[in-house]
Amino acid sequence: MAKAVSLHVICGILAALVVSLVKADDPYRYYTWTVTYGTRSPLGVPQQVILINDQFPGPRLEVVTNDNIILNLINKLDQPFLLTWNGIKQRKNSWQDGVLGTNCAIQPNSNYTYKFQTKDQIGSYTYFPSTLLHKAAGGFGGLNVYERPRIPIPFPNPDGDFTLLVGDWYKTNHKTLQQSLDSGISLPFPDGVLINGQAQNTFSGDQGKVYMFRISNVGLATSLNFRIQGHKLKLVEVEGSHTLQSIYDSLDVHVGQSVAMLVTLDQPPKDYYIVTSTRFTKRVLTAAAVLHYTNSHTPVSGPLPIGPTYQIHWSVKQARTFRWNLTASAARPNPQGSFHYGKIMPTKTILLANSASLINGKQRYSINRVSYINPDTPLKLADHFSIPGVFSVDAIQTLPSSGPTFIATSVMPASLHDFTEVVFQNNEKTIQSWHLDGYDFWVVGYGFGQWTPAKRRSYNLVDALTRHTAQVYPNSWTTILVSLDNQGMWNMRSAIWERQYLGQQFYLRVWNAVHNLANEYDLPTNVVLCGKAIGRHP
Ligand SMILES: *[C@@H]1O[C@H](CO)[C@@H](O)[C@H](O)[C@H]1NC(C)=O
Ligand SMILES: *[C@@H]1O[C@H](CO)[C@@H](O)[C@H](O)[C@H]1NC(C)=O
Repeated sequence: MAKAVSLHVICGILAALVVSLVKADDPYRYYTWTVTYGTRSPLGVPQQVILINDQFPGPRLEVVTNDNIILNLINKLDQPFLLTWNGIKQRKNSWQDGVLGTNCAIQPNSNYTYKFQTKDQIGSYTYFPSTLLHKAAGGFGGLNVYERPRIPIPFPNPDGDFTLLVGDWYKTNHKTLQQSLDSGISLPFPDGVLINGQAQNTFSGDQGKVYMFRISNVGLATSLNFRIQGHKLKLVEVEGSHTLQSIYDSLDVHVGQSVAMLVTLDQPPKDYYIVTSTRFTKRVLTAAAVLHYTNSHTPVSGPLPIGPTYQIHWSVKQARTFRWNLTASAARPNPQGSFHYGKIMPTKTILLANSASLINGKQRYSINRVSYINPDTPLKLADHFSIPGVFSVDAIQTLPSSGPTFIATSVMPASLHDFTEVVFQNNEKTIQSWHLDGYDFWVVGYGFGQWTPAKRRSYNLVDALTRHTAQVYPNSWTTILVSLDNQGMWNMRSAIWERQYLGQQFYLRVWNAVHNLANEYDLPTNVVLCGKAIGRHP
């Protein structure tokens, strides 16, 4: 009898478990994307571009928090190719990050199926090619993660939603640009600025309604300012952080970054200019699109609204006003709310100084004297199969030092759950944009000159926002705090593509000696092997 009862109870528990497992299984979304070359004329002259399913820019991924993405990417180019998911945290899953340190490139006429989850994220992101200089030819797109039903966002649902991919652009073929970099020569000044792959564009909305504008800088090198004639911009989200909803006339968006704003169409019915223009450049490149009121019969008119061009202080001041809305719900870096970032002492400080120099007569970029070079075997695979001689954990130091720069496949070791302060020290006279895969981080301070420990007193330890890409102003520093809670091999890189391509990157190996699937997923069953990993058994 007792046995029967307990069996009954166990069956009940099992049934409940099965039900809860089924419930816990988040929706799957399947995609097949084919990458090809095509011809487009974004700046008036025909040029070769990269298409995804015949689209330039690529299709917009619109998913919901926690969706499982199964995306079969078929490469029909004549070169190896990978896409990376900019800002998608790939929790426990650096296997799917789509950079050469984690994945073998997809060879021409072959394919790879990415499998990842947009876990605990809501916001505006992008994807783009991480291989060679493919990003200069397209292959990028918007990646919007929407809230699940019943999870409130801290603003009413907008009446419409526009995704604007803005970026500098070259008429020159990506292979020619790459050859220039390979021969040690910097890229020239870009030829123009595009909005969604075009120099002209129209966005239509109804008078009186509120529209979300998601702006991502998908360009190669240039910071941009964004503004709309006669309209105010209410900032609501930055790379997954819901911000204090402040009002701006214009917003700076640096390379690799995304911001989302609400715009109320509260002006007389006519058409208005949407303008994006380059920042910190001697010559200013501008793209103008049109905001069309559906009840308007009046075309755009008047001068383009002016924005800042070289003013650095203006940008720093604005950056400091980007703050986290502490009372807003929705996705958080630590959804459990188990700690507040400003109340814990960092366990480690890393100081990263970028530099430009010639190595063997060729232009290279370095971090703490090391200029990164891609190996033929992804670091993640070398690590998994314990293949020696692929990367070096001794090359890059956590503090700058003096001496010559050198080339290495540099990996910085770090312990899972370290709470780390990273200071980006920019002693060059150009703006920097730094990105870390696998994480978002608190941007706690921007300052001029040399960082010193005393600068910590100026940190925002109350309501800094989290994001995945931070700008560092010329001859300045930026500090981020990052909780290293995502095991894996993660790319820390310059989002400025020439710098990334010529060495301003490395990998952070976030590691715990205890092998545990709760910390990191196993090698994917469809993993592609290359280099020294060929013939290894997954
Ligand atoms: C390539 O695509 C086929 C289906 O077209 C699929 O069965 C296969 O798993 C894909 N290969 C990889 C490595 O994902
Ligand atoms: C912060 O979020 C709350 C809760 O959603 C919202 O009511 C409030 O307006 C927001 N505050 C600001 C200043 O954006």
